[in-house]
Amino acid sequence: MGRQMTCTAPVNIAVIKYWGKRDPTLILPTNSSLSVTLSQDDLHSRTTVSIAPEYDQDRMWLNGIECPVSSNIRLVNCLQAAREQRKAMEAADSSLPSWSTWGIRIASVNNFPTAAGLASSASGYACLVYTLAQVLELPLTPSQLSRYARLGSGSACRSILGGFVGWEMGKLANGEDSLAYQVAPETHWSELEALILVVNDAKKDTSSTVGMQTTVKTSTLAQHRFASVVAERMQQMEQAIQDRNFEQFAKITMQDSNQFHAICLDTYPPIFYLNDTSRTIIRIVTTINELCPEIQAAYTFDAGPNAVIYAPKQHMPRLIQLFTYFFPAAHPLPSEEFFNDPYHCVPTGVT
Ligand code: ADP
Ligand code: DP6
Ligand code: CO
Repeated sequence: MGRQMTCTAPVNIAVIKYWGKRDPTLILPTNSSLSVTLSQDDLHSRTTVSIAPEYDQDRMWLNGIECPVSSNIRLVNCLQAAREQRKAMEAADSSLPSWSTWGIRIASVNNFPTAAGLASSASGYACLVYTLAQVLELPLTPSQLSRYARLGSGSACRSILGGFVGWEMGKLANGEDSLAYQVAPETHWSELEALILVVNDAKKDTSSTVGMQTTVKTSTLAQHRFASVVAERMQQMEQAIQDRNFEQFAKITMQDSNQFHAICLDTYPPIFYLNDTSRTIIRIVTTINELCPEIQAAYTFDAGPNAVIYAPKQHMPRLIQLFTYFFPAAHPLPSEEFFNDPYHCVPTGVT
């Protein structure tokens, strides 16, 4: 006799990047950030959490492979936070069943490459804490849930909410004010779509966690970014979203991606996430934007070579045509239907 629940959570792709921690245990960032949560129908994690009195220890499987729980401190922190809250509820109300003492089993699958710079840690930990909260019946607001998700992976706090989501870095040492908030729901700007270009689905050489730790220790450019760049960009980006101003949204998105990768190069030893294909994508987008009277598309790259292209819906079929011209498929081309229904993402949230 136990309890079990399965949920899915989407990835989010930042347009103002988080890269740096001031507190690595609580995962408190060195700057605020802002992202778009993609649709559940596209890149997502699907997680099943079960609890039972007979489970003697906590166990976790990711993409079918068992991962030891006790050596994964972030996972342990997420489980502990949820259990402690449940324990406090049980102490206050003796009629509640003692689920806080039961073992937890987690099985999660990503429908896209894991640890390849497509935000698997974001959808993964958002899904994990959300499902866990459902199983343990924790009465958490999205903003409280974002704090639990943050303990697993910084970017995960933003996947708890749908649409356009900010993560306020906060000032407090205990992290209570370091929370995700919704800038606008997805319906506010449903014309905006995202195209994912998978350049390489292999696991990256430098994880985000290790990469940003070296950056904070060694990059002087990063210090400049934290002190003088991000706060103003956050305001401009929120305004661009409120105004549905694609020109402004696109320009800041590309500049912020460029600065993030410049900071990776300024890290010692340097970190190279972009490859030649990524740089060709940047050149294609830049050229189209220069040739057209209005900005058509914005590229952004997380910690990996894979591109995310944000563009208004009406430009998507043409962009897909262009990318397939420059990067013809090694395999037989998909059907015409595929191209008539471009792979697009409409932001939503956790369900
Ligand atoms: P990414 O760019 O994909 O976010 P990261 O280096 O930030 O890569 O994080 C990858 C790590 O996130 C994985 O090694 C794993 O520990 C964790 N992770 C990925 N997917 C899940 C998931 N579905 N559930 C729990 N943890 C996950
Ligand atoms: C480049 O959230 O994966 O995607 O907090 O150490 O788990 P940890 O790092 P993670 O870093 C994301 C970095 C980024 C930018 C972003 O999503 O804001
Ligand atoms: Co990540």
